Amino acid sequence: MSEDLDRRHFLARLWTWGLGVMAGAAAWTSWDFLQPVAGQSGGPVATVSPDKIPTDSVLEVPAMRGYLTEIEGATEAIWWKCPHLGCKVPWCETSGQFECPCHGSVYNRKGEYRRGPAPRGMDRFEFTIIDGVVVPDTSKIIRGAPAGTPETINEPPKGPECLDPTAG
Ligand code: FES
Repeated sequence: MSEDLDRRHFLARLWTWGLGVMAGAAAWTSWDFLQPVAGQSGGPVATVSPDKIPTDSVLEVPAMRGYLTEIEGATEAIWWKCPHLGCKVPWCETSGQFECPCHGSVYNRKGEYRRGPAPRGMDRFEFTIIDGVVVPDTSKIIRGAPAGTPETINEPPKGPECLDPTAG
């Protein structure tokens, strides 16, 4: 009887320890995934030819952990990390806006706040153009404007959103 109890306690501890290790690994992976690339403190990352940057959509740049887009002749380098709680914000091609699947924050193509619980628009990166290519610098972050700041581009949603309208 007591040997059976000891074994149960041992297995319960093993489970607890295993779950703890898994939770720690998941947290580390998520945190690391949302950090800008190029070393601990960021820095210049991928080089992208300007002719690859769309004027009516966005180009996902994994090395930058973000998107490049061109608006009225100006390049924007947008960090994919949601300023609410840090989820990766995907681009929705059908609506032409960024839509966070975690809690429903929505941003226009420039990353400006549109609606939802986020406190501000998406953050952006500074970049330089070296020898004709765009070089984003993930160590230089430009904070998004606070929620409620008027949008500076006139691009209403162009179609159905990707967010699940039944999600809560
Ligand atoms: S993390 Fe994006 S809305 Fe909450």
